[in-house]
Amino acid sequence: MRIFVADHPLVAHKLTALRDERTDSPTFRQLADELVTLLAYEATRDVRTEPFTVRTPVAEATGVKLATPKPLVVPILRAGLGMLEGMMRLLPTAEVGFLGMVRDENTLTASTYAQRLPDDLSGRQCYVLDPMLATGGTLGAAANFLIERGADHITAICLLAAPEGVARLEQDLADTSVPVTVVTAAMDERLNEKGYIVPGLGDAGDRLYGVV
Ligand code: URA
Repeated sequence: MRIFVADHPLVAHKLTALRDERTDSPTFRQLADELVTLLAYEATRDVRTEPFTVRTPVAEATGVKLATPKPLVVPILRAGLGMLEGMMRLLPTAEVGFLGMVRDENTLTASTYAQRLPDDLSGRQCYVLDPMLATGGTLGAAANFLIERGADHITAICLLAAPEGVARLEQDLADTSVPVTVVTAAMDERLNEKGYIVPGLGDAGDRLYGVV
């Protein structure tokens, strides 16, 4: 597994505003959207392309187009939905699958409660959207779910990550040869006793959509 921490002043600036407890939901959604687009730029560095020739007004030029099958973007419900638009801005022709995963707040284990994904993901590059890599249970379960269906390349975009989550993800993916990359805006200090990232930004789902 590879972890890539985006080192860019705009990423740091937007993340700082996201962390601020005074940032209201509309502003939080806007900032998360912009931050994901910046992270998506890094996350799609190895998106597959194929050669494509176009005719300019002057001459022929050799370029590229996105390869088929199309990349699949997979937001993890609920909070991953707040990252979808920011991702699709850069990959508008990607397909979108949905994965609903919930974390038991006592055991901190993740289980799937809903999914809308192709049965066969052979040869697909998957971009998983999950804002907080905290315990790592959700992302590990999601990645293994996609790998079982044939995904052969997984990139997760997380606003924030904790070292405990990265370690757990490495453990959960120890048996796979599928390349998994995590792109994040920052690696924070640790988790607290409730499984929240410290200093973090609080509950990403609640801050995006309210406490429902
Ligand atoms: N999920 C969140 O929304 N926030 C955290 O800090 C950890 C998990």
